[in-house]
Amino acid sequence: MGSAAELLDPDRFAAGPPSELFDELREGGPAESGHGPTGTRLVSTCSASDIEAVSKDPALWSSWEGGIFPHRDQVNALELNRNLLLFMDPPQHTKYRKILQTAFVPNSVAKLEPMVREIVTAVLDAAEVDASPDGVEGGGLEGDFATDVAVPIPLRVLARLMGLPATDLPQLEDWVARIEDSQRSPEPEAGTPVMIEMSGYLAEQIAAQRKRGDDGSESLVMKLVEAEVDGESLTETEILLFFGLLVFAGNDTTRNTMSSGMLALLEHPDQLELLRAEPKRIPAAVEEILRWTSVVNYFCRTATENTELSGCPIHEGEKVMLWYPAGSRDPAVNDDPQRFDVTREDAKHMAFGGGGRHFCLGAGLARLELRIAFEEILRRWGEIRLAGEPQRVRSNWASAITSLPIQFTSTPHQVHPEERTPA
Ligand code: HEM
Repeated sequence: MGSAAELLDPDRFAAGPPSELFDELREGGPAESGHGPTGTRLVSTCSASDIEAVSKDPALWSSWEGGIFPHRDQVNALELNRNLLLFMDPPQHTKYRKILQTAFVPNSVAKLEPMVREIVTAVLDAAEVDASPDGVEGGGLEGDFATDVAVPIPLRVLARLMGLPATDLPQLEDWVARIEDSQRSPEPEAGTPVMIEMSGYLAEQIAAQRKRGDDGSESLVMKLVEAEVDGESLTETEILLFFGLLVFAGNDTTRNTMSSGMLALLEHPDQLELLRAEPKRIPAAVEEILRWTSVVNYFCRTATENTELSGCPIHEGEKVMLWYPAGSRDPAVNDDPQRFDVTREDAKHMAFGGGGRHFCLGAGLARLELRIAFEEILRRWGEIRLAGEPQRVRSNWASAITSLPIQFTSTPHQVHPEERTPA
């Protein structure tokens, strides 16, 4: 029988989330995983019903009180982080969420389809140009799906949404990588230099977009500038942190789901061929990919009073770790959850959280990007194969693939002139 303490060991996640351990721990109910650096007791739960119950009761289970990471309860970092939506509780959370909500509701997301398809097409064109011949008879190509496809798509979509110039993409990419590193660092101030650099950049962007006469209907940056909470504009720090949150929350999550989803399809070639034969299944398959990959492993909540979770006593100030991939494979919510099945009609998952007020704001956008990416890939590429060992980030928080070598054949396709944009 595994122990909940193993969940704090990044090496336990070297080959992806430890599904068997999750199953054992779910059977045993919530259990202590250890203590955070400031001594806070951490309790882990792997059950979908616990994750949902905690996520839906922010008065008892606070995001603000102790933050959402075990190692992020140091006072300095927490004070700054409390300006982020993810770290807020109602009523503050309700007010701030409204600002961004309108940009991400399904109706406005649907309007983004042509833009996302144009970006996906340009990225696949560039990936094919950059790929090298695989040396196998038949003229196949070899490339890295993670770096050549999954990295550029979400970043370009975000840059476009924010009205940022395409020439700044390498700079944005660098910041994203450094923010990711800082999140894994035990030093609470590790991300400060990046935030300072981003802050200068953002001020320049605001000035440039004002000069151009952009408004909130064209750019999320201007939406934040124009936004008001209780009749007051957001402060510069608040705008910067919203911006950082979108770049951080919307970027590596989507790219990791894309890479992990492609890996799942390559490891289950029958499922890949099923989708190729029936592309109309792709939207449902995206839900199964989200369920199977659930790339954010956990967030925490802090108990605001002495309580219990499924019989496990938890004292005020202690944290519960919500293991989302375990919730996504809970047999109580999906039949045969250890089977990757793109024909599953109604895959239920916790990839976007446990369903409470913090439910992922970008879920509609992420679904759109994933659907269009897999539609275009399956339309253009035949015989996709794994061409080497995937490389993962050593982390128990994010399932992140940094390299996914593949071989593929590109079938001739017609690119509509409007689909072509500078990559
Ligand atoms: C497949 C891709 C994605 C995954 C797996 C993912 C996952 C998550 C998770 C697990 C949460 C926390 C939910 C909770 O605490 O209950 C979250 C929150 C959030 N996500 Fe995503 N996300 C993805 C894509 C995006 C995108 C594309 C954006 C925006 C561009 C985005 C923006 C946000 C924001 C702003 C929050 C905070 C919401 C709040 O606190 O009210 N995410 N996401």
